Amino acid sequence: MFNIFIILYIVMIITTPILTYLIKAPYGRYYKKNWGISINDKFAWILMETISPISLILSCLWFGFSGSVITICLIFAWTFHYFYRALLYPFFIRKSYSENKMSLITVCLGILFNIFNGTINGYAIVEISSRMDEKWITHPVFLLGGIIFAIGFIVNCHSDFILRKLRISSDQEYGIPTGGMFRFLSSPNYFGEIIEWFGFAMASWNVASLCFALFTLCFLLPRAISHHSWYKDKFPQYPRSRKAIIPFIL
Ligand SMILES: NC(=O)c1ccc[n+]([C@@H]2O[C@H](COP(=O)([O-])OP(=O)(O)OC[C@H]3O[C@@H](n4cnc5c(N)ncnc54)[C@H](OP(=O)(O)O)[C@@H]3O)[C@@H](O)[C@H]2O)c1
Repeated sequence: MFNIFIILYIVMIITTPILTYLIKAPYGRYYKKNWGISINDKFAWILMETISPISLILSCLWFGFSGSVITICLIFAWTFHYFYRALLYPFFIRKSYSENKMSLITVCLGILFNIFNGTINGYAIVEISSRMDEKWITHPVFLLGGIIFAIGFIVNCHSDFILRKLRISSDQEYGIPTGGMFRFLSSPNYFGEIIEWFGFAMASWNVASLCFALFTLCFLLPRAISHHSWYKDKFPQYPRSRKAIIPFIL
């Protein structure tokens, strides 16, 4: 069964960049009324993202949570990220052109994905902790993964913070963000999120978390490229040296 889910995940990883490049997920600056019913985006973020740690924890319990230190560390990292994303981030969001709306289709897909992803990763975490020695938590790969996860988280939060400040300090709908990793990138929040999940994949050393990291990359990379073109079209003075999502490269 696990293998079937992984195959499904790989299909999603392959198709997502094509779909998200052609059809921009209808929220934020790409929100369109013709995508049907929409709901308040603060509520949407809470709803979509709370499901993920709940699914992960229930899955760990269902598949035989052993209480090992490895499992606890990984569940903690996952929950920590989603505590921020589900319960803090939504309250930072400021009113925008999109009138704080998110299409219900996006929300439903987000919920389904988070149930799927949380469950499969919960299973993988339990499985890895039964296979790995407790010494894994002092292994350089685990430690390096943890450090990359933490750096990604800081970059993600700091960039979210800069975006929020921009909307507080200006009456414009959108401005040119500056400071932090925005010196180099148009979407450093996405860059942080991507490296965060690659760090997690290293620390948890299983195929499900690698799939999540790859999926995050495939979902956010085309969106970052769209954001970058959008900034260049909207602001003629937009910094030329700034890249979309990978410093100095793309
Ligand atoms: N793991 C995953 O697969 C995944 C998927 C999606 C999102 N995420 C994470 O969720 C977070 C939010 O994602 P997002 O797609 O909404 O990010 P985003 O497009 O960068 O927007 C983030 C917030 O900042 C505002 N904003 C963006 N650019 C702005 C500007 N130039 N001036 C003023 N305000 C601006 C947006 O307002 P508007 O809403 O009005 O545009 C929104 O409230 C990110 O940290 C991302 O990494 C993760």
